[in-house]
Amino acid sequence: MMPGMNLAAHALTAESPTCLGFRGGVEHHAAQWQGQPVFMKILSSGDPEQQERFSHEGQINGRLAHPLLVPLLERGSHTLTFPFVQGCTLREIIEDGPVAPFQAVQVLDGLLQVLVYLHAQGVTHHDLKPENVMFADNRLETCAVRLIDLGMAHDRQASSDTHAGTRMGTPHFMAPEQFQGVRGDPRSDIYALGVLFWDALAGTPPYADPLGWLLGSRSVRGPLPLPVALQPLLERCLHRDPADRFQSAEDLLRALRSVRL
Ligand SMILES: Nc1ncnc2c1ncn2[C@@H]1O[C@H](COP(=O)(O)OP(=O)(O)OP(=O)(O)O)[C@@H](O)[C@H]1O
Ligand SMILES: [Mg+2]
Repeated sequence: MMPGMNLAAHALTAESPTCLGFRGGVEHHAAQWQGQPVFMKILSSGDPEQQERFSHEGQINGRLAHPLLVPLLERGSHTLTFPFVQGCTLREIIEDGPVAPFQAVQVLDGLLQVLVYLHAQGVTHHDLKPENVMFADNRLETCAVRLIDLGMAHDRQASSDTHAGTRMGTPHFMAPEQFQGVRGDPRSDIYALGVLFWDALAGTPPYADPLGWLLGSRSVRGPLPLPVALQPLLERCLHRDPADRFQSAEDLLRALRSVRL
């Protein structure tokens, strides 16, 4: 925490904060704020790059509103306050084993609804992974999906791109072109969703060695998960060339809804 900063000031409005963790110069807290439980990110780093990223996340989140995207309640220079999602992440679910196909389809449907919205707003998420998907009340249903973490998002409307030129993201979920530094292509999010869907159905992502695949040196992929009816859709999300994938979240959502399990 920056000397003399944050918690003292924030304690005026947020009650009984409990530190949940610390990540990249940002503390995560659970607290009460205006009578509701909140999840707070508190910038505790003085590093200009981390400050810029923090401000970028607040800026993007602040102008977006979708029922399946966790909204930003308040934005301060060193604080971002969100409603606390009482529920688990998709990562926690997958740790207990593969997700039943009908539930995985419901989750993907919800995520695609948010993506259609984000892409129409000129925003690409660029960090779609099970850790960034939560479920209100632990319900694996479309309407309970809550997408979080716009920390790596690209906003076409923003004058500068804080992440330009940096290779960021989680290798398993990163599209090859994103790994090469291409930013703002919605089809990179389609790739990440394909990996996420695979991970949910199989309990493990497609490549044991994602860096090998990204670098083009090795590409041993695990067997396509069942059911067979979903396999063409998975394949199409995961092409190396974005031109071979579904071209939009709408297209993928349409294809998903036409699958009969
Ligand atoms: N609104 C929320 N309510 C409850 N828990 C949350 C909320 N937002 C995030 N979390 C929890 O905190 C974790 C980290 O949040 P988030 O992904 O937004 O932060 P991050 O700084 O980008 O961290 P990371 O680098 O791990 O992705 C999430 O995986 C989730 O478990
Ligand atoms: Mg995250």
